[in-house]
Amino acid sequence: MKKVIYCFSGTGNSLNAAKIIAKTIGGATVVSVRKDTVSDLAADADVVGFLCPVYEWDIPETMKDFAEQLTVNPKAYTFMVATYVAVHGRCFETMDAILRQKGTKLHYGKALRCVASQCIVYEPFPSPRFMVPRSNRHAKKIGKAVASGRHNAYPRMSPVTRRLYGKMMTPFMNVQHEFDKGFYTSDKCVGCGLCSKLCPCRNITMEDKHPVWNHNYIGCNACVVYCPTKAILFETPEAYRNLDNAISRRLGLPDKRTRYHNPAIEAKDMLMQQEEVSVE
Ligand SMILES: Cc1cc2nc3c(=O)[nH]c(=O)nc-3n(C[C@H](O)[C@H](O)[C@H](O)COP(=O)(O)O)c2cc1C
Repeated sequence: MKKVIYCFSGTGNSLNAAKIIAKTIGGATVVSVRKDTVSDLAADADVVGFLCPVYEWDIPETMKDFAEQLTVNPKAYTFMVATYVAVHGRCFETMDAILRQKGTKLHYGKALRCVASQCIVYEPFPSPRFMVPRSNRHAKKIGKAVASGRHNAYPRMSPVTRRLYGKMMTPFMNVQHEFDKGFYTSDKCVGCGLCSKLCPCRNITMEDKHPVWNHNYIGCNACVVYCPTKAILFETPEAYRNLDNAISRRLGLPDKRTRYHNPAIEAKDMLMQQEEVSVE
């Protein structure tokens, strides 16, 4: 049986869950989704999974673009797991709509609560010591459901979230790509280029041994949390200051803020293109 799991991840929660699920379903190929990823594995696979975080109540743009151009075997069992903190929004609906364009649908969808990864806004919460083992246990349970080929009515966007989406999310989405104008490096930057290599959005180039962000940013924070010298800092860019709302006023990444990434996922895992994950 051919099983493939496509995974977009910024701070490792989704990649860690993808690997746990791959093991639980008896092994699978885990493919890291980046801006330039192309894959033909789903065309004749029996099981096709999608793992990604929820960003702004939807799936990340990179995952959406990837899924839209992917060829999926219409007879395959499909599933999606979205890692999130509080509001999963419309992410399952988005993936189901993409799959329906291809003559299939989303058979199983589950939201998996994890540690919040937006270190530019807040400290990681709930506490990773409590949350990571809990998420791992839930990922295993989801893996068992997928292994048994379970179908469900995936989680829908709540009426309240649907009503608030335009007011709360659209202003952010309109200036999202300018967000990275707030990044800069301190004198701790050693010019190693790791940020550029592991950026899933292919948004960073190196100039004079320093990273330059090219305004294709979607919020993943991989560069920040995997920087080996914690040299990347952030100040609210002009476009966000103008939004004048509670969240944009709180943006900023001081030196002392904890840079959380999933403890099981190191930089080398983030650099991986494709991995055969087998049963433990
Ligand atoms: C830019 C950004 C937007 C986010 N938006 C949401 C959201 O709308 N709802 C939510 O519950 N969590 C949100 N989160 C939290 C992430 O979905 C969560 O931490 C996820 O597990 C991160 O996955 P990763 O480690 O694979 O990148 C957001 C995080 C980031 C960085």
